[in-house]
Amino acid sequence: MTATPQVELFVPKVPGLPAAAPQPGSGAAAKRLGVLPMPSIEWNKQVEKETAYLYERVKTVVPPVEWPFFAPYVSAINRLKKERNAVILAHNYQTPEIYNCVADFVGDSLQLAKEAAKTKADIIIQGGVHFMAETSKLLNPDKVVLIPDIRAGCSLASSITGADVRLLRERYPGVPVVTYVNTSADVKAESDICCTSSNAVKVVESFGVDRVICIPDEYLARWVATQTKVKIIAWKGHCEVHERFTAAELRKFRESDPGVQILAHPECPPDVIEEADFTGSTSAMINFVKDKRPKKVVMVTECSMADNVSSETPGVEFIRPCNLCPHMKRITLPKILDSLVYLREEVEIDPAIADRARRAVERMVQLKS
Ligand code: 13P
Ligand code: SF4
Repeated sequence: MTATPQVELFVPKVPGLPAAAPQPGSGAAAKRLGVLPMPSIEWNKQVEKETAYLYERVKTVVPPVEWPFFAPYVSAINRLKKERNAVILAHNYQTPEIYNCVADFVGDSLQLAKEAAKTKADIIIQGGVHFMAETSKLLNPDKVVLIPDIRAGCSLASSITGADVRLLRERYPGVPVVTYVNTSADVKAESDICCTSSNAVKVVESFGVDRVICIPDEYLARWVATQTKVKIIAWKGHCEVHERFTAAELRKFRESDPGVQILAHPECPPDVIEEADFTGSTSAMINFVKDKRPKKVVMVTECSMADNVSSETPGVEFIRPCNLCPHMKRITLPKILDSLVYLREEVEIDPAIADRARRAVERMVQLKS
């Protein structure tokens, strides 16, 4: 890109406290719709037969010895999903048995938000982290939205509060606020519009002004600044997974094979992005591998992505630096089954902020591509 990046980093005098841990759901949905008996979780011939086609999808990444543990959950979840008219929206970082065997839709944050906006299901189960489930709830206030583990947070979401955004607005009056979806509803409510890694540049430019506040991911904001002439005011939040990658480790991959393709997520530090051949959202990276079929590739992002793409792209060799997102990994098959049986944990959003937060998400979803 030719644009000269212009970034001003706002460092608050009193750093914002992490957002409070979300409270577990009240159980209102369970009272209204009832709990179901817990199905038997037994590996037998019937389960083996009915899940055989699903094992085909994961056999390169799930050893045969592990499948008898997963398959009874897969079978029970797929049965109960129909019974409950529920849909599972799973982020690209979910483990292969979730991504390939029980998810109805998979994708990056923007794709999942768009699916949430149009689903006809009565119940949405979010295979992902809490801010994603909140986004689904904002777009579906009358539906039951469940997160299988309420503790599935995000270091970016907990780096900023609504009060911090008000402080920024005081400091930069009249400057539009673009908020990454990786934030709480409280923060979204104080924002003009949301963005994801796949549309951040377009969202920033949609205001037609020369200065925009882009929070809370400093590195995403710095990357956006390299793609636009708009001056970016950033916040010092980081993704605890992507900030761990270093340019030196990427150079080592390149030295050992100059032909390797390096794909990085925009949440990576700028010097890491500079070493990469391509930068994009999780789905943009997946599409790159599917379309271009490089002989060897490194996905500089969360660990499960390589597993999920590799099963669909035979012939592509993946180098796998493994940084796990501990929040994404809280979502497991047993917890998803629990959600379907007991309708927990229900995501609720304070009505005092929900309408304003919804507006910011809807503006993003409605932005023409
Ligand atoms: P994507 O929108 O690119 O899927 O990113 C979400 C996320 O949390 C990455 O860490
Ligand atoms: Fe948050 Fe990073 Fe985990 Fe994504 S990978 S959910 S940004 S901590």
